Amino acid sequence: MEAVADRSSAETKLNFDPQLRETLNLNDQKSEKPEAPLLNVRGVSKIYKTGGGIGVHALKGVDLKIHKQESIALMGSSGSGKSTLMNILGCLDRPSAGTFYLDGIDVSDLDRNERANLRNQKIGFVFQNFHLLSRTSARENVEMPMLYHPEPLSARQMHAQAMAALERVGLADRADHAPNELSGGQQQRVAIARALVNQPKLLLADEPTGNLDTRTSLDIMALFQALNAEGLTILLVTHEPEICDFMKRTLLLRDGLIAKDETNAQLLDAVRAKETFESENEDTLAEEIAALQAEDEST
Ligand SMILES: Nc1ncnc2c1ncn2[C@@H]1O[C@H](COP(=O)(O)OP(=O)(O)O)[C@@H](O)[C@H]1O
Ligand SMILES: [Mg+2]
Repeated sequence: MEAVADRSSAETKLNFDPQLRETLNLNDQKSEKPEAPLLNVRGVSKIYKTGGGIGVHALKGVDLKIHKQESIALMGSSGSGKSTLMNILGCLDRPSAGTFYLDGIDVSDLDRNERANLRNQKIGFVFQNFHLLSRTSARENVEMPMLYHPEPLSARQMHAQAMAALERVGLADRADHAPNELSGGQQQRVAIARALVNQPKLLLADEPTGNLDTRTSLDIMALFQALNAEGLTILLVTHEPEICDFMKRTLLLRDGLIAKDETNAQLLDAVRAKETFESENEDTLAEEIAALQAEDEST
């Protein structure tokens, strides 16, 4: 009997007013659980040794944490250190000083081979100029990273995984085409499929839309957003502020240091942006045709 009475009094006590309830709502609050970052960069600097003796100080002590499923645009003027940072994060190059953890692994401890393995397992890299082998089919280009697997895959397995990656980027029907038989946007999709084929945790892209027109850039950003929604963490370099609208966070690199680090308050949907872009261009086209017709009629 007593227990029942206790419970009813407890219930009345917990009958919080709606406003208080709002502040107590755990569902809406960010989890406080400190999840280890996917990337943890501390005091990373890079000095390139040059012939003249004085080195180039390309990075001057970068601190940066990137968590799983973030999408980040890295901006900065030419020479600010963007590619240097990307190459270090992608385990293609080593910092001169500082520490760098990738998925909990201290990369500075690893030798060249171990770094190559880690890169192959955890990182996909996309370049501005696609870097595809020109006489090789899309599928074979996508198979390349699998040739370096610690445990070799059979030709059949590689074929299947490459086709799955091409399918994911919407290019399964172009698998047998060589890069010069594909548009720029399609070549970039092949490069993205190649970056995805080992199921990386982190996708690094150095100006992936730098050589593409607006429409194709929006397609590529839509693909990045879809991959990000599926759990892939993405860091890309861009010169275009419009590209930052499609990423959750923007970093600005200046003279080898991170000068700005901002969360995007208004993340745009690239699929809808493309629809808007196309309908606006249709309008312009319709206006141009109408103007031409009016001209015709007046003459
Ligand atoms: N391999 C290299 N040897 C010497 N200096 C380099 C090398 N790579 C880049 N640099 C210099 O480091 C600085 C940063 O370059 P980079 O990272 O390519 O900048 P960004 O990609 O932002 O244009 C620049 O001053 C550049 O000239
Ligand atoms: Mg660069």
